[in-house]
Amino acid sequence: MTKLREIYYCEICGNVVEIANEGQPALVCCGQPMTKLEAKTEDSSNEKHVPFIEEKNDGVLVKVGQNQAHPMLEKHYIKFIEVLTEDKVCRAELKPGDVPEAWFPVKKEDIIEAREWCNVHGLWKS
Ligand SMILES: [Fe+2]
Repeated sequence: MTKLREIYYCEICGNVVEIANEGQPALVCCGQPMTKLEAKTEDSSNEKHVPFIEEKNDGVLVKVGQNQAHPMLEKHYIKFIEVLTEDKVCRAELKPGDVPEAWFPVKKEDIIEAREWCNVHGLWKS
């Protein structure tokens, strides 16, 4: 079975799919099974991917790159940032040229996980 909120990737065309209802683990794209993405949590390179959560009065600001922002170039950028709570998935969609951060109207203590997907380096969470 697939699990709620899992993210799958097509190695051929780059499709990304998030599970909104559980079913059989047979997601197929371009004629082959899609790859389930496992979020990474540690970044040893200079370029930082692990989401950093900053508490604000009215919500949270999630940044990709705490001190140095992740690149937001045409060929390499953060496509989306998500914040997961017990009963919500909040997603901000980004594009090249944007600042790699997003604000969400969510209390920090309610967050189970923050994650982001880089179109070159994959899925990361904190
Ligand atoms: Fe990256």
